[in-house]
Amino acid sequence: MHKWNTALYDNSHAYVFRFGQEVLEVLKPQSGETILDIGCGTGHLTSCIAQAGAEVIGIDASPDMVREARRLYPQITFVEADATTCSLETVSREQPFDAVFSNAALHWIPRAEAVLECVHDMLKPGGRFVAEFGGKGNVAHIRRAARQALLEILGRDIPDRFYFPSPAEYASLLERYGFRVDALWYFDRPTPLEGSNGIVDWLEMFGGAIFPEIDATVRQQVKHRAQELLRSTPLYNNDSDTWIADYVRLRIVARRLT
Ligand code: BEZ
Repeated sequence: MHKWNTALYDNSHAYVFRFGQEVLEVLKPQSGETILDIGCGTGHLTSCIAQAGAEVIGIDASPDMVREARRLYPQITFVEADATTCSLETVSREQPFDAVFSNAALHWIPRAEAVLECVHDMLKPGGRFVAEFGGKGNVAHIRRAARQALLEILGRDIPDRFYFPSPAEYASLLERYGFRVDALWYFDRPTPLEGSNGIVDWLEMFGGAIFPEIDATVRQQVKHRAQELLRSTPLYNNDSDTWIADYVRLRIVARRLT
């Protein structure tokens, strides 16, 4: 499993949970509700849900993320759990949740069917599932450059392992797994990266699903080569020596039917 650098995540990539505020506005957590936050990371959005008066549990597959979330928010329950296998038992609950929330996490889990089975089981009938993650075409320039750099340096073509479905694909999956799709948005969200090494840093933070187990020196070369390849694309602003990542979001509101 990808090992997360929680400090780098919180310091240089704080936009992940800043943008997540918009998804919280869609969730509209209410006082007294029970809510599960899937892929809670360091727990910042989980804490916002708690502040709204909801009773929230955050789960994440990364032990480092869960440890950091517990340190930052000791009053909230965080559980290390895999979103493809978890159940009410995993989070020590008897009653299903009023809502399941997830921000910027589901693209790490190609087994989307298994995730939806779990979400369905954890929600009460009529309960809402509000999620945002990368949609089809997400970070396409960056992924293409990284793949090209891997090919040049390692001599192997290695596709990445992200899950970025199209709106049609994900909506039909939701329907197949017992949800009604109330709303779906699919939109570009160009995202400014910090510093003149923005692509190298992004790949350092998020390259887990792109890089195979290669040694650190080669990995560094690949990141720098990918950044060089991207200088001739719209992602790079030569005047300011800054980068914008080509994020594409898929945001959904669905309801468990029965
Ligand atoms: C995203 O939030 O879209 C994302 C983050 C890291 C890697 C890939 C996608």
